[in-house]
Amino acid sequence: MRIIGTGSAHPKRTLTNDDLSQMMDTSDAWIRERTGICTRQIITDEELDDLAAEAAQKALDDAGIAASELDYIICSNVVNEYVTPSMASIVEGKIGALCPCVDLNAACTGFIYAMDYAEALLQSGRATNILVMAAEEPTRMVDWNDRSTCVLFGDGAGAMVVTQGDSLKALKVSSKSNTSVLHYKRTLEPTPFITKEERHIPLYMAGQEVFKTAVTCSVSDLMTVLSAAGLSKDDITYYILHQANFRILDYIRHRFGVDSEKLPMNVDKYGNTSSASIPMLLDELNRDGKLKKGDLLAFSAFGAGFTSGACIIEWNK
Ligand code: UT7
Repeated sequence: MRIIGTGSAHPKRTLTNDDLSQMMDTSDAWIRERTGICTRQIITDEELDDLAAEAAQKALDDAGIAASELDYIICSNVVNEYVTPSMASIVEGKIGALCPCVDLNAACTGFIYAMDYAEALLQSGRATNILVMAAEEPTRMVDWNDRSTCVLFGDGAGAMVVTQGDSLKALKVSSKSNTSVLHYKRTLEPTPFITKEERHIPLYMAGQEVFKTAVTCSVSDLMTVLSAAGLSKDDITYYILHQANFRILDYIRHRFGVDSEKLPMNVDKYGNTSSASIPMLLDELNRDGKLKKGDLLAFSAFGAGFTSGACIIEWNK
């Protein structure tokens, strides 16, 4: 795998911590101190699939290839308006591609899982150019009366185009089933055969347990991929981690013993955008001219499942 283009798209509405304190019993001070989040972009009258297509088109433009040259689209997505067809198929139509399309759901770790699938397709020679993307709308999953979760999230989409190459140095994904700490259950329509009452459960998160598990998994995954690639922590130019919460990221940074310049963040601007956070941050770094050929990037993410994953990829665009 080699990354040849990145893109991202954000909804237009900015929701500040002060806006939230008008809606519920919270404060800018609490949210900033516990999460590092100042604002988030949230979907109002846009459709998530339009944002996804915008991110995809920007990634294609950055890569300098046409949608018709894509051999596969893999999209990480947890929730959107359509249960079927897949977000990837919807994006395919919007950008004018014609190739196999599939969505996957590994919660906030989805982008790294999507990279794993893409690498398998590239290695087997079944694809040359793949659009790997994530589009997420967690603000549709939260209970807007639950201040412990709704202040944490924002919406967005991120994408990258990958092609044949040897830039991916190591990748690890894992899952250990634990549905109790982090879940969301939607209500399904009744049928003549299902009489039990279905109950919609908005996003539930046992915050402190998720915090601890996230730190443990991320540190361990990063050590695993570093060792698999024969690299030391100082060889990495940037640690691009799932933007869940400033405190989690800072904890991981301290446990790992790396300087803050090596751990870029944008959680302050966008909140937690689930699996879209890594490609959104990657695109920001690319557009800001912060990435140089040969830079080693470590990605790490964690989320519901409990899933986690990490990889190391050289920037050779
Ligand atoms: O992608 C998924 C990954 N998930 C995450 O990254 C989330 C991981 N967890 C966390 O980041 C933190 O656990 C939270 C930010 C969710 C919560 O921070 P915390 O330091 O663990 O706070 P807490 O849950 O222990 O709550 C402390 C207090 C409670 O009040 P009492 O019981 O001490 O009176 C909460 O009711 O803060 C209260 N509280 C709030 N107060 C003001 C909870 N949410 C809010 C709020 N505003 N929005």
